[in-house]
Amino acid sequence: MGGRCREPAGRRITASSFTIASVTRAPRALQQPYRAVLRLTGHGPCNVGPVPGCCDPRGCDRFFNRRMAHRAAERYRKRGLNATSRHMVEFLERGGLAGATVLEVGGGVGEIQLELLKRGAHRAINLELSPAYEHEAERLVRDAGVEGRVERRLHDIAVDPGDVERADVVVLNRVVCCYPDYERLLGAAADHAGRRLVFSHPPRNPISRAVVAAQNLVFRLMPGEFRTFAHPPAAMRAVLERHGLKPTFAHRGVPWQIAGFKR
Ligand SMILES: C[S@@+](CC[C@H](N)C(=O)[O-])C[C@H]1O[C@@H](n2cnc3c(N)ncnc32)[C@H](O)[C@@H]1O
Repeated sequence: MGGRCREPAGRRITASSFTIASVTRAPRALQQPYRAVLRLTGHGPCNVGPVPGCCDPRGCDRFFNRRMAHRAAERYRKRGLNATSRHMVEFLERGGLAGATVLEVGGGVGEIQLELLKRGAHRAINLELSPAYEHEAERLVRDAGVEGRVERRLHDIAVDPGDVERADVVVLNRVVCCYPDYERLLGAAADHAGRRLVFSHPPRNPISRAVVAAQNLVFRLMPGEFRTFAHPPAAMRAVLERHGLKPTFAHRGVPWQIAGFKR
């Protein structure tokens, strides 16, 4: 936390609330391998400085930057949802979306929640640890004509679950792999899911563990505390079941696997 927590957790945000600074402080020799790993993993270089507004962003505020947000928004404008997101939306749609409330944790620019709103959901709340998405997210909300139906907050539901309303459907796409304590994160997410929850995660096998180890080796050499994780899928599913959800859908994509649950 330290000097980053200058604002209360969970502050409602607007794109203009933040100062985005260019910070690449590491020695040049370290920057090259770091950038190479980021390119390989589909992530851009880190250029968002520490920003106020969140709890402990766990390095996500540095790692998930405006350039990545811009690329994600452009990809969505040109090609729509990718296959993983499409399967997740379809699972939720099969349960009925008319009038539903949506809670998306780590929703990035928010493409999944926008598609759920287009398919009948009433309202969405997005929780993020990085403020870098806000400008692009606002533009996408306007383009989709759903202004006033999306609330975006910088908030860690695992740390402060009490300050978040329950929703009919809860989504976590590619989020658990950026968070160390999957039990706390998924437990809190499950407690907020009135009807359905869907999440995606990488597999845990020798290849994914080697990739994660290589990424984290590089991240350890860089400023910031961002790390990736290949948490055990069976243990993650067990957390959700302990919190009263039943597994009803599974999809094994490459590299992202999806698990869908009903209450
Ligand atoms: C790999 S990105 C995925 C973004 C988006 N869901 C997508 O699939 O394009 C992971 C996101 O999760 C966010 N995140 C990680 N842990 C979080 C938490 N506890 N609460 C809210 N957001 C979180 C990070 O800030 C980051 O934006």
